Amino acid sequence: MAYLINGGKRLKGEIAVYGAKNCALALLGASVLTNDDIVLHNCPDISDVSNMILLLQMMGMTVRRIGDTVTVSGTLTSTCAPKSVATLLRGSALILGSTVAKYHQIALPLPGGCAIGARPMDIHLSGLKALGVEVLDAGEMVSCKGVPVGAEYKLRFASVGATENLLCACVLAKGESILSNCATEPEVVALEQMLVQMGAKIEGIGSPILKIVGVDRLHGAEFTVIPDRIVAATYLAAAAATLGEIAVTNCCPQHFAAFSELLCSRFSVRIFSDTVCINAVKNPDGYGTITTAPYPLFPTDMQSIVLSLAACSDGKTVICENLFENRLEHNALQLSKMGAQVTVKDNIATVFGRKLYSASVCAADLRGGAGLIIAALAAEGQSVVDGVEHINRGYVDFAGMLDSIGAEITVV
Ligand code: EPU
Repeated sequence: MAYLINGGKRLKGEIAVYGAKNCALALLGASVLTNDDIVLHNCPDISDVSNMILLLQMMGMTVRRIGDTVTVSGTLTSTCAPKSVATLLRGSALILGSTVAKYHQIALPLPGGCAIGARPMDIHLSGLKALGVEVLDAGEMVSCKGVPVGAEYKLRFASVGATENLLCACVLAKGESILSNCATEPEVVALEQMLVQMGAKIEGIGSPILKIVGVDRLHGAEFTVIPDRIVAATYLAAAAATLGEIAVTNCCPQHFAAFSELLCSRFSVRIFSDTVCINAVKNPDGYGTITTAPYPLFPTDMQSIVLSLAACSDGKTVICENLFENRLEHNALQLSKMGAQVTVKDNIATVFGRKLYSASVCAADLRGGAGLIIAALAAEGQSVVDGVEHINRGYVDFAGMLDSIGAEITVV
């Protein structure tokens, strides 16, 4: 499937943001920690979430979706994650800590996800080892066995997934744990908050140092998935690229402040408690130098999107990707088919913005795909963006929502 986009249309209207993929995946992973019901509201209907639900179901849990509410109940009947589903998404790794904590064993095939470079799991595994868990890493399959015991552990990098897994392992561990250099992304904080609602004892919520006192059992919880900060920022970027005027509602502006700052100095942007409005009238003179880094700095997930904004601007932008090794080249190549002037060397892209023209391009990953759509929306004429399946992993009805604010986009 591909998107057919007739670019050059000014976007105008209102977009309501839905729940965050990476929050929903972490909360679903943590649902394994209890025999009681976990009720998640605002759960986005995207393929990564349906695959995570399928994974839990194939391992024995009962999961029902009614509208945006997903209820997880029951217990695992198998601690072997089926390869057919686990390898479809990186989020499948988020059952590692919770399953070891509750069932004291797991066999997990190496998770899949976007083609954005090597995504090792050494921090997840060395953290579990520090908690006394026996880990057998056989390349394509990781097996863990043992009862987690409280310990002090410093993550060598503030990995989002490793923080989430280790936190889930610690909440049911025997004794006290101190995790330091933890990730502080809003999705991690939401997980911490749901775990506390389930009866976990965690101090330092939202900070890089977490003190966790293990409890014997956790109970159910009802929790609302936080708004997707990357989705909110994506739509604002689409408006910026098309010199449009939109309001993005149902969002948490403080969660994407680093991106809004970039827009504020170049367009008319108004920020309210749960809404951001942008009115873009003139292409900016580039976006300066942008460096991706863990939260609250500039997110790697917005890098491909800013690459497209830079490509259709009127000046120079330098983008340094510091998290994932292959997250620049593919889109740089695709954008050059649209006339963009981009060079990439050592994970640094130098872009000289110019008017883009329509072309046939191909998405290789989720955020990269969204970036290509933004470029196609800005380019005059009819473009084709192939690889819709990547975009469906994280965006609910992307074509329909863009169409509702004036884009000419169809799925073919
Ligand atoms: N890393 C290691 N060893 C590890 C874990 C991570 O070297 O054991 C490295 C990674 O290779 C990478 C860096 O640490 O260079 C950051 O990776 P992190 O573990 O923080 O990322 P993740 O948990 O795998 C989540 C999101 C990603 C997002 C990153 C960074 C989920 C399911 N995924 O991935 O989201 O880019 O954090 O913020 O939460 C996306 O939504 O498109 C996406 C890729």
